[in-house]
Amino acid sequence: MAASPLPPAGGVCRRVLLGTSLAAAAAGRAGAQALQPGAAAAGPGLYQIAREKGLTFGAAVQAGLLASDASYAAAYEREAGLLVPEFEGKWATLQPREGEFDFAQLDAIVQWGLARGRATRGHALVWHESFPQWAVAAVAEGAPRARAVMAAHIARVLSTTRLRIRDWDVVNEAVADPPGSDTPQPEGELRNTPLLRALGPSYIETAFRMAREQDATLRLVLNDYGLEEDTPWAEEKRRRLLVLVRGLVQRKVPLDAVGIQAHLQIVRPFSRPVFRDFVRALRAEGLAVLVTELDIREGNGIPEDYVARDRLVAERAAAFTEAALEGGVRTFLTWGLVDRYSWLVSEPGVARQDGKLHRGLPLDWEFSRKEMWRAMAQAFAAA
Ligand code: G3I
Repeated sequence: MAASPLPPAGGVCRRVLLGTSLAAAAAGRAGAQALQPGAAAAGPGLYQIAREKGLTFGAAVQAGLLASDASYAAAYEREAGLLVPEFEGKWATLQPREGEFDFAQLDAIVQWGLARGRATRGHALVWHESFPQWAVAAVAEGAPRARAVMAAHIARVLSTTRLRIRDWDVVNEAVADPPGSDTPQPEGELRNTPLLRALGPSYIETAFRMAREQDATLRLVLNDYGLEEDTPWAEEKRRRLLVLVRGLVQRKVPLDAVGIQAHLQIVRPFSRPVFRDFVRALRAEGLAVLVTELDIREGNGIPEDYVARDRLVAERAAAFTEAALEGGVRTFLTWGLVDRYSWLVSEPGVARQDGKLHRGLPLDWEFSRKEMWRAMAQAFAAA
């Protein structure tokens, strides 16, 4: 966020106000124009509005859709300044069989971005999902094999993408969900994964050290979810993550940033100061904080009409984005851009149970900007 002069004591400096109101007006105009029913998106994209304030906005993207859907590609060209592969950077896609690597889909995303001056961030070197069966079996053979398999994957992926991807989620979802979650975890603060069972808690630090050995300047990120809302469950997960992070920092593990996924749920309470203070606690450890997978899930039975639902989604997007900005987040990615292709629609585990379809991303089914788009644009413009 561009540093703005501190307002004189007791008042707000006119320049700051004027600047803010002009920027917000631009975002508002852009948003308003685009929000006319059926209006083609006019005016600057979200990444351009963000960039005006030294912020980065991007979105998860699928290589197949970039190639097959011109409206999808046009929406990403207009709105996303940073790309993250929705699944093309994961172990199951990159190394489906031991020693057999396939970078074609990841490279398609990277090349599409480079041709338009957009960077791609990496997701994810180590994750218990999209972890192919051959790797599960291999790491179960014991610690030496597990270490060798992890080292080979990290070395090959980072050496192959070195010049093109400068920021990676090295470990994704390492913290165990607290009791009472819908995915019960055996006691313990770290998720019970094949690599935890093979190597113990040190697998996390080992993964980061292996990544750092590959590349001295890569930004290495620890990414997780369920950290955002004002519930005892999320509070416990934040506490667990902070314990993990403080231990890694204390042991001088090469960790540069924490990624907060932000798969928000409207039915859960959200407190701006609680979340802002959590971001500040992470930054106090010397870490950057990114919002990596923002989308917003409605509850079942939320009002039928789009206007009411989009308003509720936009209000949560505004509160969350503003709290994150207050905490010092500078990079925001949504998990997709377009409702039509959201995992919230395609994944039965998170889809609405009443037959309605979630509207949790900035662009609607027909790629038009929604209230959520305007809420984020105005939050960026006012940063
Ligand atoms: O694998 C095929 C691929 O070969 C084919 O080209 C492509 C064509 O569409 O489809 C691929 O199928 C599936 C893909 O989603 C299509 O969307 C993959 O099999 C399936 O595993 C993949 O699921 C992804 C999931 O992670 C597992 O990787 C979801 O898209 C993605 O939204 C979801 O994202 C996760 C984040 O990584 C971590 N945080 C939670 C988030 C939601 O679960």
